[in-house]
Amino acid sequence: MSSVKILVTSQKGGVGKSTVSANLSAYFADFKSRRVTLIDFDHQATASSWLRSCGSSASIAVCDALGYKSAGMSVLKAKEALRLASASSDVVIADLTWVDVFPASLFFDYDFIVIPTSLSGIELASAMDFFTRFSSVFNSKNLQAPRVILMPNRLLDTNNHREFFNNCHFPVAFSLTSPVLFSKAAQESFGKTFFFKHTDRMLKNSFLTVCGEIEHLIAVLVANKEKRTQTLNGVTSIARSNNGGLLDRFVASRHAAKDKQEAVKSAAKAPGKWYAFLQR
Ligand SMILES: Nc1ncnc2c1ncn2[C@@H]1O[C@H](COP(=O)(O)OP(=O)(O)OP(=O)(O)O)[C@@H](O)[C@H]1O
Ligand SMILES: [Mg+2]
Repeated sequence: MSSVKILVTSQKGGVGKSTVSANLSAYFADFKSRRVTLIDFDHQATASSWLRSCGSSASIAVCDALGYKSAGMSVLKAKEALRLASASSDVVIADLTWVDVFPASLFFDYDFIVIPTSLSGIELASAMDFFTRFSSVFNSKNLQAPRVILMPNRLLDTNNHREFFNNCHFPVAFSLTSPVLFSKAAQESFGKTFFFKHTDRMLKNSFLTVCGEIEHLIAVLVANKEKRTQTLNGVTSIARSNNGGLLDRFVASRHAAKDKQEAVKSAAKAPGKWYAFLQR
């Protein structure tokens, strides 16, 4: 199976991108024994320093793509970093503050776009603006389009976020995770220890719940991709005998759409608190 590519991003600073990137990388690498590469696009290299200083087994690629004056070079560097990381990893996690030097097409290189946000007005407004500007990507019917995961972050409790988000009118399809709780201990141990083994049990448990939800989404995606490959393989052999006409391709797209519906149904039945608002 090819690697799962997760971009942790937002256009707003300080929402927790590096914290989430470092901790997700450590979770998959050190708790789940997966081959992980963190691509650190942050010139401060926060997430990669965290992994290094805590001795994580995740590989690190520091990519200063945003330092390039030419937008074209930035994109090429970012794509090359992802290609190299994918070749040797089960999971690739990229930490990137989104700036408009990147074209929206870059999102299509990733399976998931994770956007951490607190419930503060300014962070939500920023997330909403981000969604609106890239709604054509996130609502795209293209099977390669990334799935958006909104991750409530630094919340004081686990109780009210569902209702809160239910009352927001987001312009794109996305999935909502359980919240990662605010923790003073997390602030104090920034860069020093990982959430999955933190002594603050509330923080640790909230983070593990979110990781489980993301793993479930990954499993649905992988199952979907495998089904699609089987379907396409089946159609390829028919296509050979039938000259690969329009009808064959129509059948293939019908199958792909059906697979997707089934995956959506199984995601909705998922155990735990995982749920999806609008599914493509
Ligand atoms: N669960 C949490 N509880 C309390 N504080 C947190 C939590 N997660 C992150 N923080 C704090 O939020 C601050 C910003 O986190 P972080 O550096 O990860 O954000 P960022 O989006 O990467 O910022 P930047 O845009 O500067 O790269 C840090 O001080 C961090 O300790
Ligand atoms: Mg950061």
